[in-house]
Amino acid sequence: MITKCIFPVAGYGTRFLPATKSMPKEMLPVLNRPLIEYAVEESLNSNMKDICMVTGRGKRAIEDYFDMNYELEVKLKGTLKEEKLDPLRRIMNNCTFSYIRQRNIHGLGDAVLTAEPIVGKQPFGVVLADDLCVNELGVSATMCEMVKIYQQYQCSILAVMQVPDSDIHRYGIVSGKNITNSIMEINSIVEKPQAHEAPSNWAVIGRYIFTPDIFDILRNTAVGVNGEVQLTDAISHQLISQKVIAYKFNGIRFDCGSIDGFVAATNYFHQKNKQKYADNKSSYNFCETS
Ligand code: G1P
Repeated sequence: MITKCIFPVAGYGTRFLPATKSMPKEMLPVLNRPLIEYAVEESLNSNMKDICMVTGRGKRAIEDYFDMNYELEVKLKGTLKEEKLDPLRRIMNNCTFSYIRQRNIHGLGDAVLTAEPIVGKQPFGVVLADDLCVNELGVSATMCEMVKIYQQYQCSILAVMQVPDSDIHRYGIVSGKNITNSIMEINSIVEKPQAHEAPSNWAVIGRYIFTPDIFDILRNTAVGVNGEVQLTDAISHQLISQKVIAYKFNGIRFDCGSIDGFVAATNYFHQKNKQKYADNKSSYNFCETS
């Protein structure tokens, strides 16, 4: 059973400056819900209810968001607007939240290692809130699929999807051999290679499950690409001695860390919700995502 999930949220969000100067990029809303809420909901829906945010300076708005706002509760009580808070209340009522500071931003590998005191010696998930993933089961289903794979194989699992050659240099890229149509055993992984050096075009997207030995590996991982401790390099080490599986994500993934991806996600959910309410319902509530 995996109960803990790490959310690295210490990054500066420079691609969204100046909007992110005094506001965490994870609080940017796609429709009326901030990116981080979609990510936490995905974790809850896969039964990882212990939420661990690896945070940094200027990220207090995230803590406040998942906490009670008494004034608002009093103001909305008994009004129709109250139901707007229902999806968030479900998250708050079912999850616990821990926050740990990543004092220096030394990369994704360093962020994950920062959470070790909270996670301890158990398997755990990692969700990158920038990557908004939607498949035929809805917006919050990817981790759920990965947990099922973990239950069968008891090893680290990464979500991957094929990307065009022109995008390869932006991702961790894996190669491996197929176990079934939807999963493969990885035999190599490299962070942000040039297209001509890449082992394939299967790119890691921001969903991971790890066995806890990854922490010891991360502790001994030297800085890599961009002068940062790369999670990819630790995975590359882990797969020398054990199985690591890639789950071929079959859906749409929006890179909400970029303006293009963020706008595409907004348009997608807006259209989808409009259609849904035109089809079945009289009132229009942005909150539903599945
Ligand atoms: C990180 C990882 C990379 C992965 C990507 C997915 O890169 O280092 O391996 O493919 O997330 O979004 P970043 O986007 O932080 O540069």
